[in-house]
Order: sequence, then structure tokens, then C-alpha cells
Amino acid sequence: MEKKIAVIRGDGIGPEIVGEALRVLDAVASLYGHTFIYEDVDMGGIAIDKWGDPLPEAMLQKCLGADSVLLGAVGGEKWNSVPGEKRPEKGLLRLRAGMGVYSNNRPARIWPQLASASPLRASIVEKGIDFIIVRELIGGIYFGEHKTETAGEEACAVDVLRYTESEIERIGRIGFETARKRRGQLCSVEKSNVLDSSRLWKKVLHRLAPEYPDVTLTDMLVDNCAMQIVKNPAQFDVIVTENMFGDILSDEASMITGSIGMIPSSSLGKGSRGLYEPIHGSAPDIAGTDTANPIGTILSAAMMLRYSFDLPAEADCIENAVSAVLDEGWRTTDIMPGGDEASRCKKAGCSQMGGLIAGHLKKG
Ligand code: IPM
Ligand code: MG
Repeated sequence: MEKKIAVIRGDGIGPEIVGEALRVLDAVASLYGHTFIYEDVDMGGIAIDKWGDPLPEAMLQKCLGADSVLLGAVGGEKWNSVPGEKRPEKGLLRLRAGMGVYSNNRPARIWPQLASASPLRASIVEKGIDFIIVRELIGGIYFGEHKTETAGEEACAVDVLRYTESEIERIGRIGFETARKRRGQLCSVEKSNVLDSSRLWKKVLHRLAPEYPDVTLTDMLVDNCAMQIVKNPAQFDVIVTENMFGDILSDEASMITGSIGMIPSSSLGKGSRGLYEPIHGSAPDIAGTDTANPIGTILSAAMMLRYSFDLPAEADCIENAVSAVLDEGWRTTDIMPGGDEASRCKKAGCSQMGGLIAGHLKKG
């Protein structure tokens, strides 16, 4: 198989973690006889510095011309004072919208080897953590009108949260379909006690429910959900929610699994072309120190193989290699345990971790 992958290294630790993911992809390619052609794309702070725009149109076109896109992370202190429209994050939002990837899938799964890295009590972790957050990605408050104006003496800022029925329906269906392939439990998360957009959300989800008799739909208010994720995460199978709630809850969900550095994500729309990125940020504080955890990005590459290229064996091969390396006790700083357990683990830098995973790939 030959595939063209647009590669956005981005800012901060982005180039380091993406470099390791490409190393793993190359190893998979030679193991299974595939050809992956990479095309570099500038986005984020680096694109602002080079082109004065966080996502120049030509860069978006490169992504649309590829079979899928792999992204590290964008943003950093350096660009914090740029106006909203020109911020690095705006490049990411324009990329998501330009690719039409409305469905963002963020798994929260505990790796047994890392159970002790969870900040939750062992009695809670033992019940299992294995759920997926399906986040709406190109609507809601992220894409409504944003403005700051003066109201009399003081400034006044406005951000609009808008959803149409069809936007809710298409992501709702992804929620049901995701749950159907798992344990059949879909939890729709909203704030219908306060927001109109949430009341519409809830109504649409319930209108769809009869079409998926094999899935049990429940509703949960987002504040309660934030609490339930730490109190009893085992209750969740699939959560479906709007853009900003999904952003917030997915950081919380990642933390209880041990480290945000471990969590990949896929973003898909109509066709098979997807955007794959770890859910963490660009961590400028550790950029260039070779201490970042590349596993979230490596697992994102595995998701690309599984969901966009229909290569499940190759994806399994990467996930198994990650597991084998963790079994051997290798840990990046973020997942290094303290106390007695530290003596059973070995510290690895970013590039060493990538090399170990590439070296453990075995054709299944
Ligand atoms: C994420 C990030 C982004 C988001 C930022 C960088 C714009 O936090 O992917 O979760 O809010 O969607
Ligand atoms: Mg986020």
C-alpha cells in the first residue's frame, strides 16, 4: 500500500514527538511492505514566523491533497500576544474545519502497566477505565462569533455557542455507532438545565435513539460528568458531547489514566481522510530537552493506520510494541513512578522511547 501523509510537526515538543512517530511508521512500512510518503506542512507558530499566517491556504491544500494528516502540537508563549485570529491555535481550528473533521475520538484507557500513575485510588482504578469521548470538533462556541467591544466604560467580550440540528445529528450518530461496536452504552453530556444549545442537543440525541435499539442512551449534565469521571469512571463506555465540553472532559479523562502524554486521537469527517494528533499541547517548557513522551503521537499514527488506511494488523502491531516496552519497565519522565516502584522502572528520553517501540514491532 502506498499512502501520502501530510506531516505537521508544529511547535514546542511537536517536532520531537512527530519524529518518533515517523520512525515507528517507517519501521511498520518496511515490516509490512508499505510505502508512506511524507509531506511537511507548516502550521501554528512556525507558520506565523515563516508566512505570517498560522495556516496559509497552500498548507491547507497540501493536507487536503494527502491521504491523512499527522500532527504534533502547536502554540507557545512566544505567540501569546498575537491577536486571536492569528494565533497558532487558530491554524489548528482552521485545519479541522477545512478538513471537515467533525468527529473527534479520544480514548481514555488505563494501561495496566501504568495503573499506579493514575492519581485515583487503586480501588477506583481496579474497576477499569476504558471509555471513549466522542467530541464534536467543528461547531459550537469554538466556531461562533468572537468579538470584544466597548460597552460604555468597560470592555465586553462575546463568544457565540451555536449548533444546528444537523450538526448535532451527524455527531450523535457517530456516538451511537461507536457505542454499538463497544459495550452499547452511550452517555450524552450537556448542560440542558441552562443552555438552549444543550436542550436541542438532548432532543436530537433522543430522536435518534430508536434507530439504535442495541444502544442504551443516558443523559448527564456536564458538571456531574466531570465529577463522575473521577468518582466512578468504570460506568462510562462512550461519551458524546459538544466541542468545548469535550475539550475539557478529555483532559480530565486523560489524567486519570496516568498521563495526558499517552492519549492519541482521531478526527474524521465524511471520507477516510483523517487528522491524527495526541491530545496534549506543545509543552514549550520541555521542548528540545528530549524528555517528552512520544507515545500519544505514536498511538495516533496507529489510529491512522486503523481508521483511515484500514490496516488493523499494523495498528495492533504498534500498540503491542508500546505495551511490550512498558512491560519492560521503560518510562518517560511523565509516567515514571515514584517510591519503591521507581526501582523496577527505567527512564527513557523521547528519542530512546521511539527507538524502543520501533525495535519491538513484530509482525503478528
Ligand atoms: C485540544 C486542544 C485544542 C482545542 C487547542 C490547542 C485549540 O486543547 O485539541 O484539545 O481546544 O481543541
Ligand atoms: Mg484540549
